[in-house]
Amino acid sequence: MLKILVVGASGATGRLLVEQLLNRDQKVKIIVRSVEVFSDSVKNHKNLEIIKASLLDLSDSELEQQVKGIDAVASCLGHNLTFKGLFGHPRKLVTDATRRLCEAVMVNNPKNTVKYVLMNTAGNVNRDLNEQISFGQKVVMGLIRLLLPPQSDNENAADYLRVEIGQDDDKIEWVAVRPDGLTNEDKVTEYEVYPSPIRDTVFNAGKTSRINVGHFMADLITESDIWKKWKGQMPVIYNKETSE
Ligand SMILES: NC(=O)c1ccc[n+]([C@@H]2O[C@H](COP(=O)([O-])OP(=O)(O)OC[C@H]3O[C@@H](n4cnc5c(N)ncnc54)[C@H](OP(=O)(O)O)[C@@H]3O)[C@@H](O)[C@H]2O)c1
Repeated sequence: MLKILVVGASGATGRLLVEQLLNRDQKVKIIVRSVEVFSDSVKNHKNLEIIKASLLDLSDSELEQQVKGIDAVASCLGHNLTFKGLFGHPRKLVTDATRRLCEAVMVNNPKNTVKYVLMNTAGNVNRDLNEQISFGQKVVMGLIRLLLPPQSDNENAADYLRVEIGQDDDKIEWVAVRPDGLTNEDKVTEYEVYPSPIRDTVFNAGKTSRINVGHFMADLITESDIWKKWKGQMPVIYNKETSE
């Protein structure tokens, strides 16, 4: 049984990931500001540990305690879609959480490498690969980056893993999962995963259900062949299109 820390667990995707990990009989720890969104069966689950705190308010030593003995960290953090969430503090929510959690893992000097799975966005480019985007997409993404701080936060968080943790770290291995336009579905459906986007995320966005994102993130953590296939990469996930 693995022990997994999920941050952003109260979010629309995070809570689906938590349920899927619990359904796979894994031990899950969540650090959340509020537990209201969870059903009683999740809240009272014997394999769920709930730490009630605002993640970035924890001190470095508190974070080190929280990641002690953890096999994987999964982040579904995102800025709330309110004025304060988009433009207020913490502006670097995802980047700071990624960096501080990784540093906390390293301080603990774990025997086995710890997996870090970051929920990112198809609106970000993997600069390790020669990903080409259209001129129009470049312009629009430039404007979004300029006007909406969460975009650069998501980009910087993935860049921290890609550049600063890199490919050969002996403490942390990572995957940044890039969904396209998020949708809500009740059930996991077929989905496809690619190393790079196969669509223009501005002018021809695909769909990715949050429950499929949760399923793929859970697979990365619990299925070693899937981890081996994607580690150190930024896979893009789309729901499989049905011909209706
Ligand atoms: N919208 C799209 O189409 C799309 C597409 C691709 C990728 N994404 C990315 O996917 C990610 C997750 O999406 P989602 O819809 O599942 O997000 P969500 O429902 O908004 O969940 C965000 C999570 O982050 C937490 N959070 C927000 N501000 C926080 C803070 N200051 N301190 C601690 N925790 C904080 C929230 O906690 P509380 O419950 O306490 O607020 C919640 O758990 C986002 O990064 C987004 O950029 C979005």
